[in-house]
Amino acid sequence: MPKLLHLSCSPRADSESSTGARVFLDNFRQARPDWDIDVMNLWKDYLPEFEGHILEAKYSRLGGLAFTDSQRDAFAIAERIAVRLALADRVLISTPMWNFHIPYKLKQWIDVITQPGLTFRFDPAQGYLPLLKDRPTVVIIASGSDFVTGMNRGRIDMATPYLRELLHFIGINDVRFVPIGPTAGPAEPIRAARENAHRRIAELAARF
Ligand SMILES: Cc1cc2nc3c(=O)[nH]c(=O)nc-3n(C[C@H](O)[C@H](O)[C@H](O)COP(=O)(O)O)c2cc1C
Repeated sequence: MPKLLHLSCSPRADSESSTGARVFLDNFRQARPDWDIDVMNLWKDYLPEFEGHILEAKYSRLGGLAFTDSQRDAFAIAERIAVRLALADRVLISTPMWNFHIPYKLKQWIDVITQPGLTFRFDPAQGYLPLLKDRPTVVIIASGSDFVTGMNRGRIDMATPYLRELLHFIGINDVRFVPIGPTAGPAEPIRAARENAHRRIAELAARF
């Protein structure tokens, strides 16, 4: 059965990015009722701290050394999490913007899955090479500021370029970003931004 992986990255009950994801999934399920939807809630599902054996395993592999038993066990956890991404035919990421960037739980997931031999490899002649096949991916980013019209109240969006680069590094280039913002401030711009984003999300989901 084909699979969509949804990475849900906001801890808030009334999250704008999660609401956008619900609009996406409602439309996606109608268009593709036979698809399996694998939801990973990064605030509730287990993610290992990236230290100790799992960190040493990365360095062992980068250095061409064999794993110790502890490193092999720790690396297997990263492998299980990365496989959920590798097996997904489509990917949906819904995330808040936090301090110009992504929330630390999404960064933790990235640190866990971005491993040599799992999602990238290093070739002395060619440099870093991605290991994942490309697949359609949608990233919904909710922000207090408005990065659609450029009225960002003096703040910068580092989340979008970072995620684009990271996904490219592991092989995912077919990525569309849908900003939702402003989500703070006067009511009317918030409502208009939400409505525009939901319209675009529904269109994307119907032909995803
Ligand atoms: C810790 C934290 C940092 C934030 N930093 C930014 C920021 O740098 N730029 C911005 O536009 N909004 C920022 N916000 C506002 C959130 O992006 C906004 O509330 C957004 O709607 C959160 O997504 P969510 O509704 O899906 O949880 C921040 C919010 C929090 C809690």
